[in-house]
Parts: sequence; C-alpha cells; structure tokens
Amino acid sequence: MGQVPIVDQLINLKKQDIVSFHVPGHKSGNIYSRFNYKNFKQVLVDIDTTEIPGTDNLHKSDGCIKEAQLRAAEVFSSEETFFLVNGSTSGIYSMIMAATKPGDKVIVGRNCHQSVINSIFLGDLQPIYIYPEVDKHQGIALGISPCSIERLIQDNPDVKAVLITYPTYQGIACSLKKISDIVHKYDKILLVDEAHGAHLGLSNRLPDTALKCGADAVVQSTHKSLPALTQSSMLHIQGNRIDRDKLRFMLRMHQSSSPSYILMASLDMATMIYKSKGKQLMEELLENIEYLKIKLQKVVGLDILGEEIVGRNYVEAVDPTRLWISMQQYNVSGHQLEQQLREKFHIQMELSNLYGTLAITTIGNQKRDFDRLYKGIYEIGKGLKVIKSEKTSYSSYSTPKVVYSPKEAFYSNKMTLPIDNSEGFISGEYIIPFPPGIPLVIPGEVISNEIIQNLKAMKEEGIEILGLKHNNCEYIDVIDNELVPATMR
Ligand SMILES: Cc1ncc(COP(=O)(O)O)c(C=O)c1O
Repeated sequence: MGQVPIVDQLINLKKQDIVSFHVPGHKSGNIYSRFNYKNFKQVLVDIDTTEIPGTDNLHKSDGCIKEAQLRAAEVFSSEETFFLVNGSTSGIYSMIMAATKPGDKVIVGRNCHQSVINSIFLGDLQPIYIYPEVDKHQGIALGISPCSIERLIQDNPDVKAVLITYPTYQGIACSLKKISDIVHKYDKILLVDEAHGAHLGLSNRLPDTALKCGADAVVQSTHKSLPALTQSSMLHIQGNRIDRDKLRFMLRMHQSSSPSYILMASLDMATMIYKSKGKQLMEELLENIEYLKIKLQKVVGLDILGEEIVGRNYVEAVDPTRLWISMQQYNVSGHQLEQQLREKFHIQMELSNLYGTLAITTIGNQKRDFDRLYKGIYEIGKGLKVIKSEKTSYSSYSTPKVVYSPKEAFYSNKMTLPIDNSEGFISGEYIIPFPPGIPLVIPGEVISNEIIQNLKAMKEEGIEILGLKHNNCEYIDVIDNELVPATMR
C-alpha cells in the first residue's frame, strides 16, 4: 500500500473515466470545465483558508459570506438562506431542534433519512411516524396521505411540527401543498427534507419546490443535484414560525467552528451557475433524458419509472431527472444491473435494490453520458428473454411497533442476541441499508420476523448495512430481557 492510500485510490478511479450517474451533481468537475470555470478547479487548494480579515465568518457573517447567502436567498426564492458545510445532516439537526423543545411530539414520514431520527434522538423528541405507501414491485416509497397527517394532528393536538421527505431519492413527490395547508391550518410547523430537490426550481416540468408549496424550513443537498462540492448544502427559511435566533444557535452547535471556505465557495459557484445557466442546462438535460427514454423503448424488458404512477398512492409528481431503471422482466436484479453497468461499461449508478437501480442525472451530465448509458443498457438487454418471474422479495420499508424513543432505547441496558433469536425483542440499535440510509429498524422498535428475513435477504444481495455494532450483521443489541408478547407486536 502506498503512503497516501486515499489519494492513490481516488486518482486511480479518476483515470478510469467512469461516467457519473451518482452524486455529487457537478459530475467529476465536468460542469466547471465546460463553462470556463476551470479557474475554480485550479484555485481550490489555494482558497482554503480560515477566518482572517476579509474572509468573513459563517457563524456571524457581515461580509462576503453574508452577501453570498443573500444572493442565494434571492436565487432560491427564500426569505433567508444559511450555507451548510456539514451536509444536509447538519441543517436537518438544526431546523428540527430550532422548531421544537425537548419532549415535543413531531410527525415524521417513516421513510426519512437517518439524520431525521438522529435529530429526534438529540432533541429528545417523541416521534409519531406516518408510513408512506410502498410500491411492492419496485421496493420504493410512494406518497404520504395528507388526510392521515390531518388525523394524526387531530389525535395529537400538542404535536409541534411535521417533517416530510420531498422528493424521495427516486424523485417521487407527495402532495406537499395539501400537506402544507393542513399543517398550517392547525398552526403547526412544516419542515421539509428536500435533500434531493435543490434543482427543482429550474423548470416547471419538475415538481414544485418545497418553498413554493409553503414549507417553513427546507434543507437541500446542493451537492447532490447541483454543482456544489460534497457536504455543501443550504437551509432556506420563510415566514415566522421558526425562531431564527434559535436556529442560528443550533447551526453554530451542529456545524464546524472551522467551516470550509472551499465548500462555501462551491455553494457560491452553484448559486451563480443556477442563476446564469441553470434553466437552459435543465432544458438540455430534460431533452437528453427524453431522447434516452425514446431510444430505450426498443429494450422490451426494461422499465423506467415515470408519470404513470402520478395520481395514485398520493403521488403528486415525479422528478424526471431521477431514472429508476428496472430489468425485472429479464430476471436481472437492480444490483446485477448496477454491477454490470459499472464492470462492463464504466458507468456508476447511485444505488440499487432487488428490483431496480437509480441514475441521478443533473445539469452536470452531458449528452455523451446518456449515449454511454444507452449503450450499456442496450448491450445488457440484448439477447435476454422476457421471463415472467415472481421474485422472493424483501422490503426496505417496515412498520415496526414503537415501544421507546430512540434516546430511551439507546440509554437502556442491553444484551446481545443472534439476529435469528431476536424476534419480539426491542432493538437497541439501528439497522440501516445504505444507500439510501433509511432505517429498517430504529432503536426502540420491535424486531419482527419480517424484519429479520428482510435483513438476511439484503445481506445476501450484498447491500451494505450500517448501524449494527457487529459488522457481520449476525448479532444485534436489544433491550435487556424485554420480550414483547406476540399479541402486542
Ligand atoms: C433524504 C435525505 N436526507 C438527508 C440526507 C443527508 O444529506 P447529506 O449527505 O447532505 O448530509 C440524505 C443523504 O443521502 C438523504 O438521502
């Protein structure tokens, strides 16, 4: 092994000319080179600095950082925008903990990212989960019922806020406007994890932005779908339901005291590109996607998730820049498809499950990327026969019974059990398939046989599982000696 293994490995991968259908959205820096922002790439190391006269301070901005945030607020149509250098994770912690106080109840879509649950832990909150509809043929979450949210608020009038993931990783947008109207009718706060939607304002062919739908606070991973560097995100606020001083306090607490100037500069660049070229580039991207879809029509066993799911299962819209591609009809799993694209065609997708694989396309992709993707998929499908097969499937979405809050569970006495013997016990750990990072089990939830079987199936499929202390996923920590009777699970 060399002296600098990470550097060696990254340079080695860079030489392989892998086409990026994954995050970050700048697509290996291509967008900067294409538009003569090469200078930005060249000066990256030189501009790494700290708080010295002239560089302003993220945590008390009154110079260039303030100006850049004001500009971003204008471009992204928010009242106030905060730059985040510790990913959307830090924004999610801050917005949830600014909107609540310890002990408060929060309604949360259970298909949320682990950072939302971690906020509930840190903020000592009581989660009330709302479960999304799930497409069992694709293993992905669909919409969330606005009426169910209303019922939950009526049943829990003391609830403080509602947190919705919008859109999902696969680009599925629920009826956020309706949810917003309901949440505000009861004078509650609407928080939106829009990690996957920083680009939505670039075209009216995309779902509406969360701010347009009326959210009070919105976190976006600018690095995922726009040209910002990994970890660079934004938090947008509108209205007066969020106490901004409390929010600033939380941001100082959850972000580094040495915020990276490289990351802040990349948010500045992303804002400038969004404003000056974003709409035109988005039109080109949407054209490239349509062109790809038309060409792929000749691959008869291929399915690409699209408009057909709109209007059902509380799905309001689908983001066409997310391509959920499935070859189930050829009996090719999502993992196999992802693996073959990478190994045979040097195309890297974002993630996969048993049914399909996800391409994240952004304004950083070019037509030639889509030509490569077409060729890869066409070649893989060539010669394969459509087979009607019933897959024995797993689901990454579960609806386990909640006994303790994540924090109560974490601080309880625990014992370790083989996973196979853990049915009916209360989990003391997370089980998180990654990506997407949506927990299958949260500490405090009852482990069902279905969860055990799903975990084993995922392991067999080679999905990375995070959260368990025992890396082999054969053991789990559960709450000491507390077996939930079968009738109460
Ligand atoms: C829905 C969702 N929310 C939040 C996050 C966290 O974002 P970040 O990686 O910017 O911290 C992710 C990351 O994948 C995500 O998928």
